[in-house]
Amino acid sequence: MTESQHDVIVIGGGPAGYAAALYGAGIGLNVGLVERRVLGGTCLNVGCIPAKELLETASVFRTVSHASDFGVNAGEPSLDWATTMNRKQRIIDQLVGGLSGLLGQRSVTVYDGTGTLAADRTVSISGGESGDCSLRADAVILAAGSTTRTIPGFEVDGRLVMTSDEVLSMDHLPKTVAVIGGGAIGCEFASMMGDLGSEVTVLEALPQILTGCDPDAARVVERSFKKRGITTRTGVAVSGHTPLADGSGTVVEFGDGESVQVETVVVSVGRRPFADLLGLAGTQVVTDDRGFVEVDGRCRTREPGVWAVGDLIATPQLAHVAFAEGMLAIRDILGEDPAPLDYHGTPWCIYCHPEVAFAGYTEQGAINAGFEVVTSKHHFMGNGRAKIVGETDGIVKVIAEARPDGTAGRILGVHLVGPWVTEQLGQGYLAVNWEATVDEVAALIQPHPTMSELFGETVMSLTGRGLHG
Ligand code: NAI
Repeated sequence: MTESQHDVIVIGGGPAGYAAALYGAGIGLNVGLVERRVLGGTCLNVGCIPAKELLETASVFRTVSHASDFGVNAGEPSLDWATTMNRKQRIIDQLVGGLSGLLGQRSVTVYDGTGTLAADRTVSISGGESGDCSLRADAVILAAGSTTRTIPGFEVDGRLVMTSDEVLSMDHLPKTVAVIGGGAIGCEFASMMGDLGSEVTVLEALPQILTGCDPDAARVVERSFKKRGITTRTGVAVSGHTPLADGSGTVVEFGDGESVQVETVVVSVGRRPFADLLGLAGTQVVTDDRGFVEVDGRCRTREPGVWAVGDLIATPQLAHVAFAEGMLAIRDILGEDPAPLDYHGTPWCIYCHPEVAFAGYTEQGAINAGFEVVTSKHHFMGNGRAKIVGETDGIVKVIAEARPDGTAGRILGVHLVGPWVTEQLGQGYLAVNWEATVDEVAALIQPHPTMSELFGETVMSLTGRGLHG
């Protein structure tokens, strides 16, 4: 048997892979990291970071548009798309550079090329600047991530039909857009493009946008979209499209014989795991019928000594879940007997305007799980800081388990929609995952004036003694 060159080889340099590499190397493991494109993966290059940067541009545009409400006369804003794109790219480049520096500081060996797994924890690397070679490790972590999905008849050409990859580097903002899929990606892009001046139609097959979010939160987003001129159509599957003869756009067909003519179609119908180049056929690693690598609660595949983490496995496709799985795999490799992750308590943050953030059960989810529930909802409309900022659309909804006497006990779910709620979820996340009761949380002092005090207010009202409502 050949000697191992690394304690751990990680295939894939996105959040799952680089978290495993940094964490493992930080503990003293000798780690090799194989990446075929750019370090940082989808999140840094064509996902979270560029999408949130463009949403921030939209936020600045909105703020300037309403500046006169504050007595600040800035005139009509206009958009210089090239500057926007340059700023986005500068942020990506800085973060990728920082990541590369961190990996270097921790002596992670980064291989440029495509990594393929063979039996006996051997990884061949080919097609990149590191040349072709074969390495062996005591443990291998597969972190090859995911890629965009499209639907039949919608060939991605980067002009008429785009996925998130193309939207994030498009050279101009289309005047009219159909967004297929009202999930997190669809709503973030619809929000961003709508605020910057595109005429947007969201087409969602299911009965609500943002499936998985509490319907009360999804409704707030839908209402805000409507106020801002973004059309949302739910319960309509898209069947195809017919490009215009002059090449200036296409007609998207959906629902029961309806159609909409647009310059560009954005397909955001989910992402699929990207195990295509991992060479799993020659190993005992098993994928399910959707292509996800099958793992146990500690991210172990069926091939001894091989773990899989991140978007490659059927857990929430979120960078922070990927970080957690990368670290979990390292702890398992070290024999630390780590507890499996509790995905139920995962924090979710969606950055459309208004933002959505939640952790734990939705109201219906808790009922389906057999809980008797008590809920409380408070509106940002009554919150001082939200009024000051001028962003009053939104609610805080807390779901608690009903005690036998009908009073509220343990906090089961916290759902926020409104201004800056992605930055406010922290205490709701802790309450759910710490299994705090409403009495325990209500006894704590909330800073005033803040938007986050609305969470405290909502929990306090669940004790039967609200202060303001
Ligand atoms: P998604 O699965 O969340 O949403 C896709 C939507 O498309 C679904 O609601 C589905 O019903 C709809 N759909 C599918 N086929 C359709 C058709 N033919 N016509 C109309 N609607 C159709 O996937 P999405 O938004 O593309 O995101 C991919 C992954 O990335 C998700 O797991 C998401 O959670 C994650 N993500 C998370 C973000 C965040 O948390 N801020 C941001 C971006 C992505």
